[in-house]
Amino acid sequence: VEKQELLYRGKAKEMYTTNYPDILWVHYLDQVTALNGKRKVQMADKGKTNCAISTQLFTDLRNQGIENHFIKQIGPTDQLVQRVKIIPLETVIRNSASGSFVKRYQTEYLQEFAQPVIEFFYKNDALDDPFLNDDDALALELATREQISKIRQIALQVNQHLIKIFEKINVQLVDFKLEFGITNTGDVILADELSPDNCRLVDMQTKQSLDKDIFRQGLGDMVPVYEEILQRLLHSEEA
Ligand code: C5P
Repeated sequence: VEKQELLYRGKAKEMYTTNYPDILWVHYLDQVTALNGKRKVQMADKGKTNCAISTQLFTDLRNQGIENHFIKQIGPTDQLVQRVKIIPLETVIRNSASGSFVKRYQTEYLQEFAQPVIEFFYKNDALDDPFLNDDDALALELATREQISKIRQIALQVNQHLIKIFEKINVQLVDFKLEFGITNTGDVILADELSPDNCRLVDMQTKQSLDKDIFRQGLGDMVPVYEEILQRLLHSEEA
């Protein structure tokens, strides 16, 4: 597979076309942003750590029967993925309260929910990714009712598997964000990435944040912590 034109440069990744129409080349950048790109910092080794974590989690999910766009890792910071049309909905799954949920409803940080909460945000930088509900998404024609119901179903399955994967490495899965895409046969599948950039992970004993909150809150260098998550995941596989 050959890398061809730059298709899109995101906040943490670049996507390239390849000589295969249905395969894209993802390059993970050594860059982290917060506040929807308003704060941007270069960070050595972040790209390869996120790429490795994402490869690991997409592979685990596939082994559990959850289809996703990941094909293979082809270098320290690069992956091949199936080309899909991204649905402009950021799907957030929460097991306990944090981030914008705490801000919106003034609940206690890490208060546990009796059942997972699914929220949607409109993926639109110009609008700052506003919160929206299923009917809004339908009115804006972001997805069909069937697609939204499929997204909810897959999101809950992903949540069940990720909770277990992280439990094994002594990490509580607080919340995470997923993106879905439509394949050329019209199926909705999981896409984007799975890394501490889009998950909230908390050490079960110390309650220390092991994710991008370190950067959001200016608590220091986050790459060693991402590296720690990767090492725990790799050793969990061996056990
Ligand atoms: O900020 P908020 O509490 O809504 O974030 C919920 C989850 O979604 C967090 O795990 C966060 O990392 C992720 N997220 C993301 N990309 C965004 C917004 C949130 O990955 N644009």
